[in-house]
Amino acid sequence: MKKLILAVETSCDETAASVVNINYTLLSNVVASQIEWHKKFGGVVPEIASRKHVELIDSVVKEAIDKAGVGFGDLNYLAVTLGPGLIGALLVGVSFTQALGYSLSLPIVGINHLIAHVWAIFLRKSVKFPFLALVVSGGHTSLLEVKGEVEIEFVGRTLDDAAGEAFDKVAKFLDLPYPGGPVIDNLAKEGNPEAISFPRAMLEGGYNFSFSGLKTAVINYVKREGRERINIPDLLASFQEAVVDVLVDKSLKALKEKNMKRLVVSGGVAANSRLREKLKEVSFFENVDVYLPPTSLCTDNAAMVGAAAIPQIKAGNFLPITASPYPHLRMSY
Ligand code: KG4
Ligand code: ZN
Repeated sequence: MKKLILAVETSCDETAASVVNINYTLLSNVVASQIEWHKKFGGVVPEIASRKHVELIDSVVKEAIDKAGVGFGDLNYLAVTLGPGLIGALLVGVSFTQALGYSLSLPIVGINHLIAHVWAIFLRKSVKFPFLALVVSGGHTSLLEVKGEVEIEFVGRTLDDAAGEAFDKVAKFLDLPYPGGPVIDNLAKEGNPEAISFPRAMLEGGYNFSFSGLKTAVINYVKREGRERINIPDLLASFQEAVVDVLVDKSLKALKEKNMKRLVVSGGVAANSRLREKLKEVSFFENVDVYLPPTSLCTDNAAMVGAAAIPQIKAGNFLPITASPYPHLRMSY
C-alpha cells in the first residue's frame, strides 16, 4: 500500500525533511546541518538556529520531494516535530507544515522528538513489543518502556547534563571543536580507557542518570594535573568509558528488573563507537537483542519523524491546524 508522509524536523540545529511510506519504506532523507554556523560559538545558538531554519526549510523540503521522485500532490499526510526542542526552531517547522497542510488539505501529525529517535529503528527492522529504549542525545538521556505502538512510559531520565551534553562540554573545555561527541570518539580510539578512574554515578535504586559530576571530575582532573602534562587520548578514553559504563549498566538493570530481552538504542550518542562495541558484548553475553539504527538515522533527521508518525496515523491522532509547538513536551525528560 502506498500512503506517503512528508516529515519535517527543526527542533535543534538540523533542518530536515523526509518522505516515508506508511509501511516504513524510506523514500528520501535530507538533512541540512547548521554545525558550521554554530561551531565558532562552541554550541547551538538558538537565534541563529531559527534564522537558518527559515532560510533552509523551503529548499530542504523541495529536495526531499524531488529525491523521493514524487510531487506534492502525491502526499497523504504531513508530520512535524512538535517538541521538545528550541521554541524558535520548532516554530519554523510547525508553521511551515501547517501552511503546507492548509494549502494541500492534508492531515498533520505532531511528533515527540524522543519517540522519533526510538522509531528510527523501524525504518530498518521491525522490533517486537515490548522493548526498552535508551535515547541518548545532546539534549536527552532517557530510558523508555515501549509496551506497544502508542503505549510508551518513561522509566528514567538524566537529572542534569545529558550524555551528549557532557561530551560537548568536556570537548569545549579542552578547546576541541563542536560537536564534541564525534571528536572525542575519534581521539579516544588512541587512548587507554583504564588510564584514569572517573566516577560512575549510578544513583542507586533508580533508573535516572547524572553526568554533570563526571564532567566536573574531568575538568578538575585537568586543572589539578596541568593541561600540558595530560595525555588527551587517555583522558578522553577514560571519560568516554565512564559514560558508556553508566549507560550500559543502567539499561541492563532496567532490562533485568522488567524482564525484557530487547533494547533499542538511538539518538546522537548512539553513534559512539565504544557504546556500540559494548552493546554488542552485552547482546552476546547477556542474551539481549540490541537494535541500533545506522548512525545516519541516530543523529537528528526527519525520517525518524515520518516513522514515528505511522502509529499515530493508524490511531487517528491528528493535530488541529492551530496547534502550537511545545518546547517542554511532557515526555521531554
Ligand atoms: O540526536 P542529536 O543529533 O541531537 C539532539 O537531539 O540532541 O545528538 C547530538 C549529540 C551531540 O551532543 C553530539 O556530541 C553527540 O550527539 N554525538 C556523539 C557522537 N556523535 C554525535 N556523542 C558521542 N560519540 C559520537 N560518535
Ligand atoms: Zn535528537
